[in-house]
Amino acid sequence: MKILFVCHGNICRSPMAEFVMKNLLAKENIKDIEVDSKATTSDAIHNGIGMPMDIRTRRVLDKNHIPYTVHQASLMTKDDYQKYDYLICMDEENFMDMNRITGGDPERKEYKLLYFIDKSDDIDDPWYTGDFDEAYCEIATGCEGLLKKIKK
Ligand code: 4NP
Repeated sequence: MKILFVCHGNICRSPMAEFVMKNLLAKENIKDIEVDSKATTSDAIHNGIGMPMDIRTRRVLDKNHIPYTVHQASLMTKDDYQKYDYLICMDEENFMDMNRITGGDPERKEYKLLYFIDKSDDIDDPWYTGDFDEAYCEIATGCEGLLKKIKK
């Protein structure tokens, strides 16, 4: 199985979700699920070079003892729809952008992360709110809900 987390810039929320999910899977010793993250826009990609994870995202991951590797923002493409089993974004804007990029969702693979805890809420963009702790809490609960659903 392959999961793609998606957000606007791919430097705050979606890489946070990627590493939180990878940590949950590692703790459960689940090895056959691949996790990745990408952007719906090239706002954090300059001259073709993706920016690294936001320093505030790295700090919140450190604070919560979530390991991570070097990350560079990259843009999602239409082909990703066939490559992944789940394409999971953070807010309504991402959802509309993602759906536009993939050209629809005939196989029902596209969700907002908090769907997995039965909520239709957005995970607000900490790039604007400055609240990386709140984003972390919501992402961690969403990923736990996703793990539960996958294990079923
Ligand atoms: P993200 O946050 O979508 O959670 O990665 C953002 C990061 C960068 C920008 C916007 C949102 N930006 O405009 O560069």
